[in-house]
Amino acid sequence: MIARAALLGCALLAFGATDASATPEEDRAAFIRTFQQRFPGVPLEDYVYGGFMFNKASRNHYDDIMAFPPFLGDIERGKALWEKPFRNGRTYAQCLPDGGRNLAGTYPRFSEAENRVITFEMALNRCRRDNGEPEYRYDDRATMGVLTAYARGLSDGMRMSIKVESPGALAKYEEGRRLFFRRIGQMNFACSNCHLDNAGKVMRMETISPAVGQAVHFPVFRGGDELYTLHMRYTRCMTQVRAQPFPAGSEAFNNLEYFHSYLSNGLPLQASVYRR
Ligand code: HEC
Repeated sequence: MIARAALLGCALLAFGATDASATPEEDRAAFIRTFQQRFPGVPLEDYVYGGFMFNKASRNHYDDIMAFPPFLGDIERGKALWEKPFRNGRTYAQCLPDGGRNLAGTYPRFSEAENRVITFEMALNRCRRDNGEPEYRYDDRATMGVLTAYARGLSDGMRMSIKVESPGALAKYEEGRRLFFRRIGQMNFACSNCHLDNAGKVMRMETISPAVGQAVHFPVFRGGDELYTLHMRYTRCMTQVRAQPFPAGSEAFNNLEYFHSYLSNGLPLQASVYRR
């Protein structure tokens, strides 16, 4: 168990949470350096396993479950949604570049024209809208959830490649970064207190994962069958520290996802994985 007092302090100073002078690349390097000093010998590629990277037995358990994933039915349902043509006969594959393959790892993206962050879910919803279909709710497991479980899987293995290339993009990245380091909720915890300062420690029987590698494998299936999108997971963590969560699909979460995904640049994407 981690003591609350032990959570105070260090990351805020080391990472200059209040002054956003570091470039995204410096941020990413600082996170990786911190983790690699703390967990010597764990290859960076293993960070995609989250809390399972720390323990061989739980990693074996993960591998066993992934050999016959109990959530294949959800991926099949997502595939059916993906393949079903819109009423005008067109499909997601026709709407997106390269049929939607090797694409999810380039999201979130910053749109200069709209001055906002566009997530992969928004890109899918835009296909729907542009083809005359109603948009899916961001947190609806039965539609958007399973659709992304399949559609992100078309990018499995691609390297996460998030770009922050303009002042406008940097402003959104920094908004996300500020939320990551901001203490929130009745318990007064920031994301960084757990996923930077206390990664590798055990909390409520779960090993806390490092922030690097977290964004590459969503949605996850908790307990093998309960689908969580990335924003649903953010919501859960905010609720756990008794903060009022932002809604899934909100601008605050989109910006957080932009910062958070950048930290995983270079790591291989794998959608739809088991989590405890
Ligand atoms: C009090 C500690 C705590 C705080 C604060 C916290 N989390 Fe978590 N988070 C956890 C625990 C415990 C888990 C489950 C174990 C794990 O996978 O890390 C988790 C899981 C996650 C996961 C899933 C990781 C995976 O591989 O499946 C993500 C993503 C995440 N948190 C992001 C965030 C973000 C973003 C914030 C800030 C809004 C945040 N967390 C705040 C404790 C925390």
